[in-house]
Amino acid sequence: MKIAITGKGGVGKTTFAAMISRLLAEEGYSVLGVDADPDANLALALGFPKQLIDEIVPISEMKNLVAERTASTPGTFGTMFKMNPKVSDIPEQYCKEYNGVKVLTMGTVDTGGSGCVCPEHVLLKTLTSHLILGNKDVVVMDMEAGIEHLGRGTAKFVDAFIVVVEPGERSLQTYRKVKTLAEDIGVKKIFVVANKIRNEQDEKFILENVHEDECLGFIHYNPNIVDSDRSDLSPFDSNEQIKKEVQKISDKLKGAL
Ligand SMILES: Nc1ncnc2c1ncn2[C@@H]1O[C@H](COP(=O)(O)OP(=O)(O)O)[C@@H](O)[C@H]1O
Ligand SMILES: [Mg+2]
Repeated sequence: MKIAITGKGGVGKTTFAAMISRLLAEEGYSVLGVDADPDANLALALGFPKQLIDEIVPISEMKNLVAERTASTPGTFGTMFKMNPKVSDIPEQYCKEYNGVKVLTMGTVDTGGSGCVCPEHVLLKTLTSHLILGNKDVVVMDMEAGIEHLGRGTAKFVDAFIVVVEPGERSLQTYRKVKTLAEDIGVKKIFVVANKIRNEQDEKFILENVHEDECLGFIHYNPNIVDSDRSDLSPFDSNEQIKKEVQKISDKLKGAL
C-alpha cells in the first residue's frame, strides 16, 4: 500500500499520516513514513524523541551522498551527472525508526522555477520512485500543503491520494483541485479523510461535497490531539476514540485498494 497524504495547510495531514502509520505498524506492517514536506514534522507527530529528531538529516541536505550517488561536484551546475543514481540502500541506511515506524525525510530542493534538473532533484525523484515501486509493505508520504507538488509528479506512482479536509469550503476547494490534477497525472484513486469534525452538521456538509465511496471517514475535533501537539507527543497515543476513528478509516482504505 502506497499512499500520499495531501490537502490544504493546517488541515491535519501530518497528524493523520502519523496516526495511520502508527496503526499499520501496530497491525504488523512494515511502515515507511516519508516526510516530503520541506517544513518537516512527521517524526514529531510520530512521537520521536527530540534527540532522535535532531539526528535526522534530510536526504537533499546530505551533500556528500548526493554528490557520491550522482557523481556530481557539490555546488556546480551545468556539469554532467548520473540521471539514474543508485538509491536502493538509502531507505534502510538513512531512515530513523521509532514506535515501529521508519521515517525518511526528503528535504527541499530549490527548483528555481520549472524544469530544474539538479543532482539533488534527480536523487529525490529516483528515490521516490524506488520507494513506491519497491516491495515495502506500506509507504505513507506526508506531502507539503497545496497542489504544487503535483506538478512535480513526485507522487504520481502511489496507489492513492488521501486528501485531508476540514468542514469548510477552503479545504474542499483544495480537494477539488487535487482531484483534477491527480487525475491528469494518472493517479486513479482519490480519497478524503474529514478531520476536525465537531458535529452532525459538519459530517453532513462533508457528504454534500464528497461522494460517500470516496470519503474514508471522519476524525472528530479532539482536544487531546491539541494537547499531544503541545507536549510533543504522538496524537495516536492521546486517546482511544481517535484510534478507533483511524482504524475505521484504515479498514475502509484497505477494502478500497
Ligand atoms: N482532529 C483534530 N482535533 C484537534 N486538533 C487537530 C486535529 N487534527 C489536527 N489538529 C491540529 O491542527 C494543527 C495542524 O495539524 P497538522 O497535522 O500539522 O496539519 P498539516 O500537516 O496539514 O499542516 C496541529 O496543531 C494539530 O495538532
Ligand atoms: Mg504537515
